[in-house]
Amino acid sequence: MAENDQVLAVFTPSGKRGNFARGSTVLDAARALGVDLDSVCGGRGICGRCQITVAEGDFAKHGITSATDHLSPAEVAEKHYGNVKGMADGRRLGCQARFRGDVVIDVPEESQVHRQVVRKRAEARDIVIDPTITLHYVEVAEADMDEPSGDLRRLEEALADQWNLSDLATDYRVIREMQGALRDGNWKVTVGISMQNRIVAVWPGFREVHLGIAYDIGSTTIAAHLCDLSSGEVLASGGLMNPQIRFGEDLMSRVSYVMMNPGGDKILTEVVRQALNTLAADVARDAQVATSDILSITLVGNPVMHHLLLGLDPVPLGSAPFALAVDRAVELPAAELDLTLHAGARAYVLPCIAGHVGADTAAVVLSEAPHLRDEMTLIVDVGTNAEIVLGNKDRLLACSSPTGPAFEGAQISSGQRAAPGAIERVRIDPVTREPRFKIIGSDLWSNEAGFDDACKSTGITGICGSGIIEAIAEMFLAGIITTDGVIAAADSPRIIPDAHTDGRTFSYMLHAGEPEIRIYQTDVRAIQLAKGALYAGARLLMDRLAIDTVDRILLAGAFGSHIDVKYAMILGLIPDCALDHVQSAGNAAGTGARIALLNSAARTEIETLVRQIEKIETAVEPAFQNHFIEAMAFPHKTHPFPNLAKVVALPDHSATMPTAKRRRRRKS
Ligand code: FES
Repeated sequence: MAENDQVLAVFTPSGKRGNFARGSTVLDAARALGVDLDSVCGGRGICGRCQITVAEGDFAKHGITSATDHLSPAEVAEKHYGNVKGMADGRRLGCQARFRGDVVIDVPEESQVHRQVVRKRAEARDIVIDPTITLHYVEVAEADMDEPSGDLRRLEEALADQWNLSDLATDYRVIREMQGALRDGNWKVTVGISMQNRIVAVWPGFREVHLGIAYDIGSTTIAAHLCDLSSGEVLASGGLMNPQIRFGEDLMSRVSYVMMNPGGDKILTEVVRQALNTLAADVARDAQVATSDILSITLVGNPVMHHLLLGLDPVPLGSAPFALAVDRAVELPAAELDLTLHAGARAYVLPCIAGHVGADTAAVVLSEAPHLRDEMTLIVDVGTNAEIVLGNKDRLLACSSPTGPAFEGAQISSGQRAAPGAIERVRIDPVTREPRFKIIGSDLWSNEAGFDDACKSTGITGICGSGIIEAIAEMFLAGIITTDGVIAAADSPRIIPDAHTDGRTFSYMLHAGEPEIRIYQTDVRAIQLAKGALYAGARLLMDRLAIDTVDRILLAGAFGSHIDVKYAMILGLIPDCALDHVQSAGNAAGTGARIALLNSAARTEIETLVRQIEKIETAVEPAFQNHFIEAMAFPHKTHPFPNLAKVVALPDHSATMPTAKRRRRRKS
């Protein structure tokens, strides 16, 4: 058989094909064609990333017959790999198998660098691996008296020869690490190279594992997902309370703390960075890996969290014009954030969209991808300020709306954060007006046997955001509250005249025990103001796009995952929409952070998109005030809610209208 004889190699699923000399390796052919076939060891038969299978049979489409013996039999290195690591039947190492005849090569998903990560939620976009850091095993020429040159130069030469990599940047920390690694590894090392062509790590010998953490820094909780950067697999997840809470429950109180206490910003920065280190240690322990294996992290958070993390002053975010210190993504050594991970670990902080619309919302956009869809999507992240994004593939708008902290239980007489003991679900019998409820930490309703025992450990401590929404919505459905939000006098022992207003206002007794939990008129007003602002913000964006309806609504953040969307719509927090098109995108910000961790193209995508999103400033929009006033009513003064009306019998507005108005209507 002549050595220069050619064979036809066809790769699936890419369909790429080409003629190659007999005796060339499958990996070389794949590289020549640009087929996505992984390799860490550079074709030495060590890493096993290049595994392929041969498709057998006649392939009329390609005019060839393909058979397993059209590849050379396994030799020492491949047999050794199979014996030590094990290989499935029919698998071959692409770097060892050589062409003997025409062949169709199948590259399985796990051998592709850009493989897809399986996600649980069907509607969310797929994550495709597009590494931000790649590993390269190299054998470096030993130091030689006769040919003196520096270790770094010889390492760079090896990377150029063996991996075709050149113009690499590095720093002294890596050079220090490299010195030891070269000698410990007997001049064989694995090099981690970032997407910026920077050497970020050098380990002795062969190494195939590198890890990253996606952080979502919320004002209440911080979540971390430890991921294998090669497979995208989440190895461990963890969360803890944001320790900044002791300096202020909500964002603005933390900004106030910084304003009132010189050096307060440094303290807030320090405690959040400590929390990130604690979480890294927690997830590393759960996954039984070392924190020094963590080479890459991504971080998302609202603008105040973002600034405090980076050690930037958050005070300008507290008042108009709400200027961000930086509106681009930030990429820096993790060590600059005081994080004790791998010494060369890189940190990528997603860009904020605007002074009130943070990197967490940018991450939600990345995860839920409204910009890739035809449907008009409304994304709402409810916090102290609601961050709102609306649009589709043609145009995206964003604004924030000053909802205040009522949805988080603040400014509510018995309000509290969502924590064990807080009332989170409420039902009210429309005939007897008797309530029943559930608390966080128990599956039982308050009227079920065993409820008292079930909540013994926590007690009933207050009412959280989702609880107050359900309570007021149920009061509205039961005719206790009018469309205008007035708790009406009625013949029920639960509805009590308020002493402090001489009986001019009423409250509803939700829980008569200890502590007593009542819904006061002021609580209803606080929710009306919050929901009016939220709805008005969404409506303002709809006006800009000249639309009256949206196709789907995503409720992001912790509040979004607790809230029952039906009750949110009954109160008119969000515009009318088919209920099955309203979903919680609870951890979408964390997913967005994970996408940016695993996919370098996604970083470019969100950086570009953030610049294109049109920012609307609600404070200077005259229409906002009108929308706000109309949106104070339940569910709305003038806008119809036909989709909601299909599933909920909304009270007849005229029946709950103030008497004078009703009389006027009767006359006309
Ligand atoms: Fe590493 Fe083939 S490329 S085993």
